[in-house]
Amino acid sequence: MKFNRLYYKYVPVIAIDGPTASGKGTIAQLVAAQLGFHVLDSGALYRLVGLAVQRYQVNKNDVSALVSLIHSLHFSFQEGCVQLDGVDVSTGIRHETVSRLASAISVHAPVRRALLARQHAFRKPPGLVADGRDMGTIIFTDAVLKVFLTASAEDRAQRRYKQLIEQGFPAKIETILCDLLERDSSDINRASSPLKPALDARLLDTSVLSISEVVNRILVWYQKNDLHTDVTKNTFS
Ligand code: DC
Repeated sequence: MKFNRLYYKYVPVIAIDGPTASGKGTIAQLVAAQLGFHVLDSGALYRLVGLAVQRYQVNKNDVSALVSLIHSLHFSFQEGCVQLDGVDVSTGIRHETVSRLASAISVHAPVRRALLARQHAFRKPPGLVADGRDMGTIIFTDAVLKVFLTASAEDRAQRRYKQLIEQGFPAKIETILCDLLERDSSDINRASSPLKPALDARLLDTSVLSISEVVNRILVWYQKNDLHTDVTKNTFS
């Protein structure tokens, strides 16, 4: 179904941004489940490109090859399962090598532009919860609610360590912390869409709040904002 621009504009978006392992993914999923909204895990898109770079042996510094690769990618996100060219890569995209490649390719402005329409396509009724680094600042600047999550690097490294061990990947806390600080620095200092809170974002420190406290706070903010429009009342073509 093709939406007209007006219709698209009235699909509410909640943007959740923050650094690596700040809990964005889990929180976005839980908020979306409560509201019956769609989810965009934009980091997974960058990871898919990272995985494809590895799989198809594309030079991570060859920007035009990366853009062509993005235009040729066939992927799908369904019920927590991510597929690339028909293969389930939900676990593969979480590997640390892929994380590093995702971070490396994400610094190129043409790569970010090539992923723009792919991200906008997730905005569908009744609403979207989008998580990443630039959801509130670049991709969905008209989001009805923008949240920026923070947490100390040590807490985030601990979280990522637990995640990797649970998924059966070998992991070392010191390496993870080092890697995470390197990725923070690359995300914050890149020229194109650096990681930063939108001017109208609300900040939440996930080191001092439990996941359910964070989720509840976001839901209360969303409901208090009361900006939800009943999109079914708008026309579309
Ligand atoms: O959130 P994540 O760790 O899955 O993201 C993987 C990488 O993708 C991260 O190092 C930076 C990049 N990324 C980005 O540049 N912009 C986004 N909106 C999401 C992720």
